[in-house]
Amino acid sequence: MRTPPKAEKLALKTRAGEIILDSRKVAFLPECQTLLVADMHFEKGSYLREFGRSVLPAFDTQDTIERLRVIADDYRPKRIIALGDSFHDMRADERLSPQAAAQLNALSGDACEFIWVLGNHDPDIPSAVTGGREDHVQAGGFLLTHHPYECPDGVNICGHYHPKAKISSRLGSVSAPCFAVSEAGIILPSFGTFTGGLYVSDPAFTDAMPNIQSVVVAYKHRIFQIKAR
Ligand SMILES: [Fe+2]
Repeated sequence: MRTPPKAEKLALKTRAGEIILDSRKVAFLPECQTLLVADMHFEKGSYLREFGRSVLPAFDTQDTIERLRVIADDYRPKRIIALGDSFHDMRADERLSPQAAAQLNALSGDACEFIWVLGNHDPDIPSAVTGGREDHVQAGGFLLTHHPYECPDGVNICGHYHPKAKISSRLGSVSAPCFAVSEAGIILPSFGTFTGGLYVSDPAFTDAMPNIQSVVVAYKHRIFQIKAR
């Protein structure tokens, strides 16, 4: 059996310190050993099935947790911080299976703290899930939030927008999730298995991040930094 290719990573120096952008759509802050993930949207599949708009099996929560577990095993972080919209809707707690809650709770423990930054989709986190609940977290010079915030001296890391970008070449073009990077902020791609994306060329990014310097595209196990024109 072929071993999967190693996930590529890109180390960026920012004015708040170093951040590792990982092609698996997460980021890592080495100085505080903190793993960051955004927009997991657990139970989106069951939400769509409940409202009759999907015939897809609702495997997304399981798949998303399993991918996060593999990444956490690689980094062995002291903290995992989910940057909001971790759960797709306010009634996700009624559909989250006890097994899924147990698997989420197993990600943290004596050696690792889990913090849920609250997002617009999940102002409450299911009670069966352990971990801290926060509006934001300050980690050194990094301000960790769900929505973007101005950060005059440090760097804001947030989610919410699910950025994606198109890479074109002579052989064709592909769209893929990306990190949107400016001097004052980084918007993480969405991590959830059933989450979509918004092109960074969309006018929504004009307000969210007016001075995008580059996009860092996560395509399969590869990662590409493309300077903004
Ligand atoms: Fe989201």
